[in-house]
Amino acid sequence: MAVQSTALLLFLSLLLSSPVIIFTLAAALPREQETDRVSALPGQPPVAFSQFSGYVTVNKQEGRALFYWLTEATSSPEKKPLLLWLNGGPGCSSVAYGASEEIGPFRVNKTGSSLYMNKYSWNTEANLLFLESPAGVGFSYTNTSSNLKDSGDNRTAADALVFLTRWMSRFPQYQHRDFYISGESYAGHYVPQLAKAIHDYNKRHSNPIINLKGFIVGNAVTDNYYDSLGTVAYWWTHSLISDATYKSILNNCNFASDNSSNQCDDAVNYATNYELGNIDAYSIYTPSCLSSTNGTIRVKNTLLRRRISGYDPCTENYAEKYYNRPDVQKALHANVTGIPYKWTACRLSIQSDLLSLILFHFLRKYQSFYVACIVC
Ligand SMILES: *[C@@H]1O[C@H](CO)[C@@H](O)[C@H](O)[C@H]1NC(C)=O
Ligand SMILES: *[C@@H]1O[C@H](CO)[C@@H](O)[C@H](O)[C@H]1NC(C)=O
Ligand SMILES: *[C@@H]1O[C@H](CO)[C@@H](O)[C@H](O)[C@H]1NC(C)=O
Ligand SMILES: *[C@@H]1O[C@H](CO)[C@@H](O)[C@H](O)[C@H]1NC(C)=O
Ligand SMILES: *[C@@H]1O[C@H](CO)[C@@H](O)[C@H](O)[C@H]1NC(C)=O
Ligand SMILES: *[C@@H]1O[C@H](CO)[C@@H](O)[C@H](O)[C@H]1NC(C)=O
Repeated sequence: MAVQSTALLLFLSLLLSSPVIIFTLAAALPREQETDRVSALPGQPPVAFSQFSGYVTVNKQEGRALFYWLTEATSSPEKKPLLLWLNGGPGCSSVAYGASEEIGPFRVNKTGSSLYMNKYSWNTEANLLFLESPAGVGFSYTNTSSNLKDSGDNRTAADALVFLTRWMSRFPQYQHRDFYISGESYAGHYVPQLAKAIHDYNKRHSNPIINLKGFIVGNAVTDNYYDSLGTVAYWWTHSLISDATYKSILNNCNFASDNSSNQCDDAVNYATNYELGNIDAYSIYTPSCLSSTNGTIRVKNTLLRRRISGYDPCTENYAEKYYNRPDVQKALHANVTGIPYKWTACRLSIQSDLLSLILFHFLRKYQSFYVACIVC
């Protein structure tokens, strides 16, 4: 008996140290993960890192599924942190902007025929997880059309949390990995609210799988009063508007209020229509994309104009060519249910529905998240 168990022990330890077992463990990663592997995208240059993309259902009853695209780190991905990226809008796609125009490894060629490398990609330092959020944006969809009208910051955060926990069961190698949330523009709302949702979730679980280390926001929509004062000061100090227009905006606009006035509208319209001209306010030293200037709208009593640009401000047009290609969608495992409208960089219907929600006075919420996170 004793001999038998010694033999068994020996057998087990041999098994544990044998390469066969290592192979078996690797193969034991969920099959769905392999299904999501992207071998190569049409027109993509060869790369050494792995990519995965696909859907995670976040609400079965209403049929909400979020689309993700993971581009792993270029070296030692198993040692690098996981970084979630969210674009804003509300309604803009993280595939269009974050992945294809900002921090991701690929840029879309002008003709939409191929991809080329972004030498400033963040995947030299981290595994990048681009999420199209909320449902209805980009390739993420909902089977309940009313969801587009009532999708707010709260549900956006709740769905993103469900996404993360389910995604980590598909990708268990990322459980307990250092995790960061990042984003820009309206994600100034999404990012800290998701951080708070994760923080609360982690408090309810022992040994939580999401190892939240921090969050990053750029050009964040936080508080209309300060955001607007900063914007108009930026315009003026960069000689984009005259002294008279600067004074006129400050005298006529009350950015602490939810409502605009005719005088304020006139002053802002004068600045944008006659003084800023075709200068791309997001990137004043680079050419602007003339064909998309019609795509800018002013949001309520703010100075926000709804368009986000990179160095080539027409990139979202190239992206719309590329990501609507059936062969590209097939390679990405995107649009598998036959979404009844085209893929767009921003989805206007979501934008206008979300606009009535909390655009205002969000800065003080950062304070409460910060306080919550001192103990996290
Ligand atoms: C949405 O509906 C389509 C078509 O019925 C179905 O194939 C798909 O699974 C549904 N999505 C979700 C997330 O339930
Ligand atoms: C885009 O692709 C076309 C065709 O493959 C090629 O001729 C052109 O040089 C590419 N342009 C860029 C900017 O990569
Ligand atoms: C979000 O949810 C919290 C807790 O459920 C609630 O207190 C808050 O009012 C909600 N906010 C919005 C904008 O719905
Ligand atoms: C803003 O306008 C709405 C509708 O036009 C009105 O109901 C509300 O009282 C106004 N708010 C302020 C602070 O003036
Ligand atoms: C912009 O809008 C104007 C007025 O609706 C229209 O005449 C013009 O063709 C549009 N330009 C572009 C590039 O779409
Ligand atoms: C999804 O695919 C259908 C064809 O099956 C296409 O008509 C539609 O434009 C696509 N939608 C998106 C969002 O990619």
